[in-house]
Amino acid sequence: MPKITFIEHDNTEHTVDAIAGQSLMQAAIDNSVPGILADCGGYCNCATCHCYVDDMWTARIPPAKHAELDMLDGAIDTNNNSRLGCQIQLTNDLDGLVVRLPASQT
Ligand code: FES
Repeated sequence: MPKITFIEHDNTEHTVDAIAGQSLMQAAIDNSVPGILADCGGYCNCATCHCYVDDMWTARIPPAKHAELDMLDGAIDTNNNSRLGCQIQLTNDLDGLVVRLPASQT
């Protein structure tokens, strides 16, 4: 059961017990983490699950596919660590993952 820490734009931290196999976005929604809106329900069509993966973890997450990159192109305040939470599938290897949430989703 991977523990995931979400850090809101105001530095409020939420560490949740996620389930391997679910998406990072779903782990946030299931645990009522503010800052992940997920308007499209996880279909890579809204970018309201935008998050910044901590530097320590970027290399340990499979790279984004074209659809995710296209959606991030239209998102605001993106950087090199930007990902869509609905496109990151959690595994037990990601226990301890830290992601930050953008101000635009407060
Ligand atoms: S929930 Fe809509 S793009 Fe991730």
